[in-house]
Amino acid sequence: MVHAHPGRRSRGGTAAVSHLDPQVFATYLERTRWFGGKGRAYDVTDVSTIGTLPGEPPLVVVHLVEVTYADGSDGGEAGVELYQVPLAFYEHPEQRLDHAFVGWWEDPDHGWVHAYDALHDREAMALWQRAFDDAAESPDGTMSSDGLVFHRLPGHDLDLDAQSSLFSGEQSNSSVRYGEDALMKVFRKVTPGRNPDISVHEVLTEAGSTHVAHLYGWLETVQDGEPVQLAMLQQFLRTATDGWELALASVRSLYADLDVHAHDSGGDFAGEASRLGEALREVHETLHEHFPAERRPASAARELADAMVGRLEAAAAVVPELAEHTGRLRGAYDAVAGLGDLDVQQVHGDLHLGQTLRTSIGWKIVDFEGEPAKPLAERQLPDSPWRDVAGMLRSFDYAPRVVQRSLGIEDGPDAELLEQRAQEWAERNKNHFLTAYAGGGLSAEQQTLLDAYVADKAVYETVYETRNRPSWVGIPLQAVAKIGAP
Ligand SMILES: Nc1ncnc2c1ncn2[C@@H]1O[C@H](COP(=O)(O)OP(=O)(O)O)[C@@H](O)[C@H]1O
Ligand SMILES: [Mg+2]
Repeated sequence: MVHAHPGRRSRGGTAAVSHLDPQVFATYLERTRWFGGKGRAYDVTDVSTIGTLPGEPPLVVVHLVEVTYADGSDGGEAGVELYQVPLAFYEHPEQRLDHAFVGWWEDPDHGWVHAYDALHDREAMALWQRAFDDAAESPDGTMSSDGLVFHRLPGHDLDLDAQSSLFSGEQSNSSVRYGEDALMKVFRKVTPGRNPDISVHEVLTEAGSTHVAHLYGWLETVQDGEPVQLAMLQQFLRTATDGWELALASVRSLYADLDVHAHDSGGDFAGEASRLGEALREVHETLHEHFPAERRPASAARELADAMVGRLEAAAAVVPELAEHTGRLRGAYDAVAGLGDLDVQQVHGDLHLGQTLRTSIGWKIVDFEGEPAKPLAERQLPDSPWRDVAGMLRSFDYAPRVVQRSLGIEDGPDAELLEQRAQEWAERNKNHFLTAYAGGGLSAEQQTLLDAYVADKAVYETVYETRNRPSWVGIPLQAVAKIGAP
């Protein structure tokens, strides 16, 4: 247990290995893909152990690493983050795990210890799998061990022979697959409270939804009476292909022969777009049934419009090109302010084609954590389903433009024809998606709300692109230019 901050109390649990140097964690965080604080000044201000996995060897201890940012407001919530780092300890160096080496220490009780990020270690990952299996044996589906509580849902026997491997594309979390049997998503940045990814998957699984991977279980610990959810175990979708990759492939096939219109192209995506729209409608309907939903009074629509205007003003300060569009954007938001009642419910919150998977039996939607940048309390709140729809529409708009840029053909001799095909592809798939989602045309109110959410998202994208890929800002600006245009 480290008390880098004098006077700070440890979070409890058994400290199996003591004297972990916070600097070692700081160095390790910098090397990972999932640490969100790169580029900001910070200190590792606490390292606590929250539990030891049952069934060693190897000894695996789940650590929470507290990061405090220099630019955070007086150590307020935004200035402090907790990251989950499970470590596997070995007496001797394990060369097979060199790439996941975190540090080594001389420990008074254990002698030399070599610590590795446990997610890379098959031996270590088998401990989670066995603990989840044990939980299924108990009558209430839970198993507690040293502060860690494993929960299981009935209906699936884990394959204990399946070997683990870490997904290579890890971003803000780390996902480990167990053969073709199960996938465990280990949340890296953790916050006390219920993670919507787990609660939504639980509800949709229990409701028999065919549009999500079944939830098998989850792992949590309890601190100060509140759950801190650490990991989620779910069905591994063996036949899945990423929806975003499929969309890009469809666009590439369209661009291979520019004489052919999108609707005649062999790689046409419209049927998939329709099925995706149906999938989202069904998911929204089930979420509406099982989570609190409400019809908010007219003041809520005005607040929503105000928030959108606020984001527009902040964005305009960063993206000068927005200036010529602010009049029409405000018009779109004003229309929302005049809407009256506003229906809200549990939604996805961060939906785009990259959160969809096409399996042999249909579309699945993944990752119900909500927008990663928002605090958990906000991500748990009901929201308008049109936010999700808008996210998908923006994704359909991006796909053809991303292919143009990745092929380096956006300024070539066929630029005009290419742009025509890009628009055809985007419009065609947006229309199919939307018609299937809404079961026909949209009412005027629905269209007003959708336009505003699309505008809000595109404005956000202009800021993102200006900061990260300035030469791409034309993509969302093109969308912004269409808002409210005749
Ligand atoms: N049940 C699953 N089966 C197979 N692959 C999955 C499953 N769930 C997610 N994936 C893959 O893992 C990627 C990341 O999953 P996601 O839940 O979106 O995590 P993150 O929070 O890291 O974005 C997805 O884009 C998808 O390709
Ligand atoms: Mg995701």
